[in-house]
Amino acid sequence: MARITAGVFTSHVPAIGAAIDLGKTGEPYWQPVFEGYAFSRQWMAKEKPDVIFLVYNDHASAFSLEMIPTFAIGCAERFAPADEGWGPRKVPPVIGHPELAAHITQSVILDEFDLTIINRMDVDHGLTVPLSLLFGQPDAWPCRVIPFAVNVVQYPPPTGNRCYQLGRAIRRAIASFDADLNVQVWGTGGMSHQLQGPRAGLINKTFDNAFLDRMLTDPEGLARIPHLDYVREAGSEGIELVMWLIALGALDPHPRLVHRFYHVPASNTAVGHVILDNRH
Ligand code: DHB
Ligand code: FE
Repeated sequence: MARITAGVFTSHVPAIGAAIDLGKTGEPYWQPVFEGYAFSRQWMAKEKPDVIFLVYNDHASAFSLEMIPTFAIGCAERFAPADEGWGPRKVPPVIGHPELAAHITQSVILDEFDLTIINRMDVDHGLTVPLSLLFGQPDAWPCRVIPFAVNVVQYPPPTGNRCYQLGRAIRRAIASFDADLNVQVWGTGGMSHQLQGPRAGLINKTFDNAFLDRMLTDPEGLARIPHLDYVREAGSEGIELVMWLIALGALDPHPRLVHRFYHVPASNTAVGHVILDNRH
């Protein structure tokens, strides 16, 4: 049977991708950011997942503002890096897992979570920057990836609790796939940041660190944080954190903390990164 071995959580920031692509990771501004992922890259090299179920958000790259699915699952064979205005990142194409994606789609929809099925889609920094942070710059990504896009761009995004419950349905789906696969679930985006308006540049270390604490001590309470609290406390783009709750919901109760990192700033964003082991 397929098994979820770990959850990986990380912010995504386009400037992090640019720093990697332009060879700037050793510069004084960036060095402390990438240091927080050094352990994770070694850990990942040993873990060798077969598939990553990667929860992220599209930033009007693949969908535009004409069509905005709340939850969209990538069922294609491959996904090309999106052109976000400076040309596509020169990173490898993302190779999907259509059989597992179709199984999850069927299981989750019959479990009453209605997903949008995506058979062609480009993937932007929300997905490729986390891959770069954890895998560096390989010629090909070392495993399959199922992109799972969540609307956190236009109000209303899904509630944290809806995301958490969906994660549980995804856990049931993966556990019932009849193949011996090592599957990781990733939650990306966040932490506190606001890119626009009078509060642009907002960072809230207290909120972020409490969120990181509660992932282990109070996941169900975390899932109950209302939208307005995210916006007030973590900024308009802090709402990206609801995506972490999908990955958290997909883990068994009481996962083991393997790694935790927090750094301010990277571009306009507080960077958070956690690895949770799901084996008991
Ligand atoms: C930044 C952060 C994001 O999450 C994003 O999608 C775009 C930009 C930033 O920090 O600049
Ligand atoms: Fe973002």
